[in-house]
Amino acid sequence: KFEKIWLTFGIGCLIVFLSIVGVSAFYLGNQPPSCLTTIDPETVGEKAPFDKPGLNKVEGKEWDYELVYVASAFSYNPTQVEVPLGAKVKVIATTKDVVHGFEMAGTNINMMLEPGYVSEVVTTFDKAGEYLIVCNEYCGTGHHLMHSMVKVV
Ligand code: CUA
Repeated sequence: KFEKIWLTFGIGCLIVFLSIVGVSAFYLGNQPPSCLTTIDPETVGEKAPFDKPGLNKVEGKEWDYELVYVASAFSYNPTQVEVPLGAKVKVIATTKDVVHGFEMAGTNINMMLEPGYVSEVVTTFDKAGEYLIVCNEYCGTGHHLMHSMVKVV
């Protein structure tokens, strides 16, 4: 008798829990905060801002530069970039093919690049130095070769 009641209660809880997760994931569209925009993977490299990878000066925005990256197996475009010390930069990145990582060593920047999504983060480079960008999502045989460099001067 009691087993039956507890079993029903347990299953009930499970259903409630799964519904909450399901609703928040699909209905409310909960997603990592860095994925704000989408892009057709076919047009990566043709459409702005991805037609101009690298550091671009911008006017009339909260940040001074946009630093655009296109990742593909197994490299980042650009492979190296120089950023002026103290610059407020919006990093904008996506991937042409599979999921790649985007971790900038020595900073708190750590994004996931997903096909069709644009990952963005705004940061101020207030310490001179070299910042290595590495891929931290396993993406294939050349995964360990994927890197890029930001030089803050
Ligand atoms: Cu790209 Cu691992």
